[in-house]
Amino acid sequence: MQLNRNFLRLKNSYLFSAVAERTAAYRKAHPERRLIRLSIGDVTRPLAPAVVAAMKRAADEMGRSETFRGYAPSGTRMGYPSLLGTIVESYARKGVALGEEDVFISDGAKSDCGNLSDLFSADNTVLIPDPVYPAYLDTNVMAGRRIVFADGTEENGFLPMPKRDVRADLIYLCSPNNPTGAAYTREELKVWVDYALENDAVILYDAAYEFFIGEEAFARSIYQVEGAKQCAIELCSYSKTAGFTGVRCGYTVVPRELVREGVSLNRLWERRQAAKFNGVSYVTQMGAAAVFTEEGERQIGEAIAYYRENAALISDVLARLGIPFTGGKNSPYIWMKCPQGMDSWTFFDYLLNNANVVGTPGSGFGRNGEGYFRLTAFGTHEDTAEAMQRIAKLLEA
Ligand code: MLT
Repeated sequence: MQLNRNFLRLKNSYLFSAVAERTAAYRKAHPERRLIRLSIGDVTRPLAPAVVAAMKRAADEMGRSETFRGYAPSGTRMGYPSLLGTIVESYARKGVALGEEDVFISDGAKSDCGNLSDLFSADNTVLIPDPVYPAYLDTNVMAGRRIVFADGTEENGFLPMPKRDVRADLIYLCSPNNPTGAAYTREELKVWVDYALENDAVILYDAAYEFFIGEEAFARSIYQVEGAKQCAIELCSYSKTAGFTGVRCGYTVVPRELVREGVSLNRLWERRQAAKFNGVSYVTQMGAAAVFTEEGERQIGEAIAYYRENAALISDVLARLGIPFTGGKNSPYIWMKCPQGMDSWTFFDYLLNNANVVGTPGSGFGRNGEGYFRLTAFGTHEDTAEAMQRIAKLLEA
């Protein structure tokens, strides 16, 4: 027996577990203090009424023998046609033509962003932006791949562009970016698409936060860029769009046009999923199918507007304090520079101890995140306002 020793090369704990552990220790030592969490991007608005009604109807159907369902229909990428149809229509509204065969239902973008790596050889070189969502790095460390980084810095607005002298087979992009909130314009994404096509590379494009984009210049899907269907897989999630962090549902687009070494990646992914995944529950899929209806979109739009107000409040306070930050505009994340040259974990402890506010240390998202800190706009209005009051009072003092 031999272990996969690549696991031993991982950091001791996953970023959000480390934050949770430190927070729990503080809470245990100071049970009388009210902590406000603006750390992990977990939503606080309830599910949209249209989603709840659809889930209740589906649960009722499951309780009657005439309408009971077992496994999701085969040959439909684990998705019920009514859900796949709403996804295809939502892409059409963004000007992207897809077929239902291009779409695979998942239990969220995080699982697929790791699982997709099954399709690619361990000998591939992976290009990962830094800073970025830590799951990309961790899953590729587990697979033992060679990793190169694309540096996101203040100078490039945390939006690294491809370098001609760097070769990569797999490229992770996340826009709007987690954690920096910076988003690529369509023109910038086109440069990445051209680079991937020239290098025969595949882009794994994480669009989990696309619903926060409010400006036309920014891409809401990589397929809004010409050539992307020949080189990109897109990961989407209902978590942040529709409050599904606890419900769990997402979708992954593997276009039929995406072919490498003469093999269709769509076919390969279908084969992989058939062997390793049994799909998402009917009740969940029916809830998700209500999201991109007229009524559903109006209701989730209200939740997104709510979070946008939080983002604006956080941004206003940081601007007043003269603290440099990115994000908060087309993104629910605000990426601030730690004051007085503090490193990320020092600032984490400083805020926890002195303001009882929990954020996320930037260094957990990569080397270039050191000295930065992430706040999320997914809290309640009340908590966000109070947290920012506490932060302002502390930093002004
Ligand atoms: C985050 O806070 O970065 C996200 O909520 C984590 C996730 O989506 O897994």
